[in-house]
Amino acid sequence: MEFRRINGLPPYVFATINGLKAAARSQGRDIVDFGFGNPDLPSPDLAVEKLAEAAHNPKNHRYSASRGLPNLRLAMATRYKKVFNVDLDPDTEVVTTIGAKEGLTHLMWVLLGPGDTAIVPSPSYPIHLAGPGFAGAQVITVPMVDPGASTNDPGDDFFDGLLAAWEKTPVKPRVIICSFPHNPTSASVDLAFMERLVNFALERDVIICHDFAYADLGFDGYQPPSILQVPRAKECCVELYTLTKSFSMAGWRVGFMVGNAEIVAALTKLKSYLDYGTFQPVQIAAIVAMNEASDYPDLLREVYQVRRDALVGGLNRIGWPVATPKGSMFIWAPIPEPYAEMSSLEFSTFLITEAEVATSPGVGFGDGGDHHVRFALIENELRTQQAIRNLKRALPKLN
Ligand SMILES: Cc1ncc(COP(=O)(O)O)c(C=O)c1O
Repeated sequence: MEFRRINGLPPYVFATINGLKAAARSQGRDIVDFGFGNPDLPSPDLAVEKLAEAAHNPKNHRYSASRGLPNLRLAMATRYKKVFNVDLDPDTEVVTTIGAKEGLTHLMWVLLGPGDTAIVPSPSYPIHLAGPGFAGAQVITVPMVDPGASTNDPGDDFFDGLLAAWEKTPVKPRVIICSFPHNPTSASVDLAFMERLVNFALERDVIICHDFAYADLGFDGYQPPSILQVPRAKECCVELYTLTKSFSMAGWRVGFMVGNAEIVAALTKLKSYLDYGTFQPVQIAAIVAMNEASDYPDLLREVYQVRRDALVGGLNRIGWPVATPKGSMFIWAPIPEPYAEMSSLEFSTFLITEAEVATSPGVGFGDGGDHHVRFALIENELRTQQAIRNLKRALPKLN
């Protein structure tokens, strides 16, 4: 059968790892799971209580507003002011989405069509690479060079790749998708980088979609910048923010797209055709989370930082050199030299079967990812230490 929108998608390598994980568990093996970036920490109590209370009110059982309740959009604007000092008009510059992933995908429908192109770093979160294709557009990839780790070597600058991609395409790209702190590489940037990116876009009349899923996950005092902190960014940029990681509310599906009012209006219009909004009790609880548990992301960040230190410290101790990320909830680990002949899928498979440790193979995130595996910080410190012991036993070739 012909399934036009999905036939071109590469095989989902994470499914292979999930299958191996499930098979190992069904044999009673204890897999320490760093595979999927699915937060294990609870959502704020206040939000859970509000959800239960609001669900008992039949008025909340009806269709809600697809663009989000006014107070939800206001809560988002208030948070942007407080955390990033960015002014947003909740009526014209904020639209609620069913998580960042849905928001980004439908945003591509709004911005792109057949014949258009989008520039996307690779490796990247899979929907960044697939989303433009769902809208019928082409993707041009740019190597994801960690801007924080750039040297002066030519080709080692993210912008060199961007420029090369720009010049390579016969059709002027309409969209650049990016995301910092970055999944899977955890590359993190400063405001000067964002300024350069916005200037690049303004000079070339291209739209930037910045997926800010790890907005609140900067470590050691680092605050990831919002692209909207750059003057004039609203002329060409939109940003996706989500409660998934910031408030550990992954299953609730509450996100936002903020920024350029024309693009916000366009996505709002599309969504008015597609959905009737998130279940109203969820929206009400999300308002409470943002207004009354606004410091919850700080608590989560501390937990992730402790886990990061345990994993990075442990891997380096057993002779698997990895860098310490400034942000995100991932460790992007190069396959250690004595095992470098394995592909990332082979190495991830080996780690499950021999070390009972699940990771994500880098190839699942696109070109340039195959020499790495990704650890998501979703296991606590004790389990992380257990994983380090298992890895040490299973990888005797490490120094
Ligand atoms: C870059 C990025 N964007 C979006 C998401 C998903 O966000 P949401 O749950 O809001 O759809 C993730 C989750 O892993 C992610 O890494």
